[in-house]
Amino acid sequence: MYLAMNRFEIAKGFEEGFEKLWRERDSYLETVPGFKTFSLLKGTQTEEYTLYASHTVWESQEAFQDWTQSESFRKAHAQAKAPKGTYLGHPNLELFEAVL
Ligand code: HEM
Repeated sequence: MYLAMNRFEIAKGFEEGFEKLWRERDSYLETVPGFKTFSLLKGTQTEEYTLYASHTVWESQEAFQDWTQSESFRKAHAQAKAPKGTYLGHPNLELFEAVL
């Protein structure tokens, strides 16, 4: 099992718009070989931002890497962009290999 998580710091007041973007996106994941699950997670808040994570589970590292180079990945990321001011900083990608 392999896990890929992209963390986003979303400026206060922009949460609803960010969630809407994800809710209304065209998703291609269900057709991708080796894909298992997707969640959009809402985390802790500070005075400046609310933390979100897009969380995906894959059968293997190879399945994840193949997806990042696929047409499905490109199309998912060519959709409507979040309004200016939504993101505080860059998304933070974290990758995990299951040990146990
Ligand atoms: C290798 C790095 C990345 C991973 C693993 C990743 C993960 C994902 C996943 C799993 C989806 C859903 C795709 C679907 O349902 O078909 C998605 C869509 C999306 N990703 Fe990424 N992503 C990456 C890079 C980025 C970057 C750099 C941004 C910049 C902010 C971003 C922002 C978004 C947004 C806003 C969506 C929702 C659909 C849209 O409007 O484009 N992602 N991403």
